[in-house]
Amino acid sequence: MDIIRKQPAALPVRPNLLDYETERAGFSWTAARRSLDGLPGAHGLNIAHETVDRHAAGPRSTRIALRWRGRDDAAQDISYAQLRDLTARFANVLATLGVAAGDRVFLLCGRIPALYIALLGALKHRCVVTPLFSAFGPEPIATRMEIGAARVLVTTTSLYRRKVESIRARLPALEHVLLVDDEGGAALPPGTLALQALLDAASPAYVIGPTDPESPALLHFTSGTTGKPKGALHVHQAIVAHYATGRLALDFHPDDVFWCTADPGWITGTSYGVIAPLAHGITQVVDEADFDAERWYAILGRERVTVWYTAPTAVRMMMKSGADAARRHEFPKLRFIASVGEPLNPQAVVWGVEAFGLPIHDNWWQTETGGIMIANFPALDIRPGSMGKPLPGVEAAIVRRTPDGGAEPVDAPDVEGELALRAGWPSMFRTYLNEEARYRKCFSDDWYLTGDLARRDADGYYWFLGRADDMIKSAGHLIGPFEVESALMEHPAVHEAGVIGKPEPVIGEVVKAFVALKAGFEPGEALRRELLGFARKRLGAAVAPKEIDFVATLPKTRSGKIMRRLLKARELGLPEGDTSTLEST
Ligand code: WT7
Repeated sequence: MDIIRKQPAALPVRPNLLDYETERAGFSWTAARRSLDGLPGAHGLNIAHETVDRHAAGPRSTRIALRWRGRDDAAQDISYAQLRDLTARFANVLATLGVAAGDRVFLLCGRIPALYIALLGALKHRCVVTPLFSAFGPEPIATRMEIGAARVLVTTTSLYRRKVESIRARLPALEHVLLVDDEGGAALPPGTLALQALLDAASPAYVIGPTDPESPALLHFTSGTTGKPKGALHVHQAIVAHYATGRLALDFHPDDVFWCTADPGWITGTSYGVIAPLAHGITQVVDEADFDAERWYAILGRERVTVWYTAPTAVRMMMKSGADAARRHEFPKLRFIASVGEPLNPQAVVWGVEAFGLPIHDNWWQTETGGIMIANFPALDIRPGSMGKPLPGVEAAIVRRTPDGGAEPVDAPDVEGELALRAGWPSMFRTYLNEEARYRKCFSDDWYLTGDLARRDADGYYWFLGRADDMIKSAGHLIGPFEVESALMEHPAVHEAGVIGKPEPVIGEVVKAFVALKAGFEPGEALRRELLGFARKRLGAAVAPKEIDFVATLPKTRSGKIMRRLLKARELGLPEGDTSTLEST
């Protein structure tokens, strides 16, 4: 597909990154840190101070920080000054409950104001915060809260009843459950507290304590192909990268109205749906509702969104209803569109021009990287299908694994290999919680190995080729097959399960399970439906398999590992590749 040429001088707003090479040559993380304020009295760096208190204390205090739009017609605009008071109240609630710095606070809410208040308030109190995706079922919630040893949970009354009550006994570390009332004042379930009453009674003044920039701030879970989910731990200093990427990759300007459509339960929705825009003191839109093309067009127009950060699945769903549907709306202020999380088809990049008059800028990163690492910048020509070039301050490479288990960069262009990043950017994860060995395995010398396969062309653009492992990407969500297999195996009829991502044109991949039954159980439509329902109830709709096939046995290696690759090849009718380790049955 043709290159989309950019003429920076002709853009409606002068981009922050005008010339890629110049910006790259002049960039340093030390200098980037100076865009931030730091706690008064040189007491460190705290995300909540940078995102809230410093703007509340200055000329931007009355500016809208969060422009919240509810599922129905509810709406709430929260200024920076109001956000300072609300988050201070939440921090004081934690203090009153005896919650200490470093304690883990989990959030399980839809995109409601309380989620944002609790997230930033907990950071003020120097707790470590984990927002969980509210469409998770009880099982993924329990696993993550166990690993994180959650001491506090903020959720809604209905989510608590549906998803937490049944697992509470598995969470001995959980002392305080603070509920947002969404049941119109029904009696509180035992062992919970009403959040609103506590907030009302708390003081709206809170002084953030000294915060070491290297102290933990956020714990985001990501899945692995084997074993339990991994808790990627990020520190307060990560905000240096959130700020820099907001400036360079998303091109934030002081009057911007930004909309990141991701949920904070996934890291995009925290790094860019909370921290980066607020760090810049701009207004950000939060929509509580799920995807709906017409609703989204209306929001982009009515809220006068200038910069929009979304996902390929959403773009493809919009493409289904045609560019005309978009063109019936007006987007008077929209000037930059970016997308992340899964491959963005070249057609989708170009469709942006048809629908919005703007191409869509793909960028790449991961839970572990904390922020955007490779991007199509506003001033840079777009090669549709490419993820763009590394952020200034980030060194990327294509590496080849060496026989001794190391990794060496490949200099030649157009060679397929693993994408690696030189360790040292501020938002890099600092460990997998309680799993230092698993963390260390991600590095070779000072290269962080991403687990993605890619190539770099002769002009320095990176192209995504696939994952090096069995992870599944469905509607932008990274799903670990092991978690799905384990849930299926809880069912009395299931002997073994193997789970793959089956390519699907709109959501990328659907979760598909192959199930071998225990002796005495017969495959059939009724059992298939029962298993689908069973998995959905435990895992939640976002993670559960959509398809199940029964098989007599699963292909395994001689050491007993399920060969998901082979299941996938067979499903797709592709060559089976190297099967030398296949156990003979
Ligand atoms: C994996 C990370 C982006 C933060 C939220 C997701 C895939 C990400 C792209 C892209 C192709 C992409 C990779 C990556 N991915 N961006 N632009 N093109 N694939 O973070 O859940 O940790 O997933 O998403 O495979 O490793 P995550």
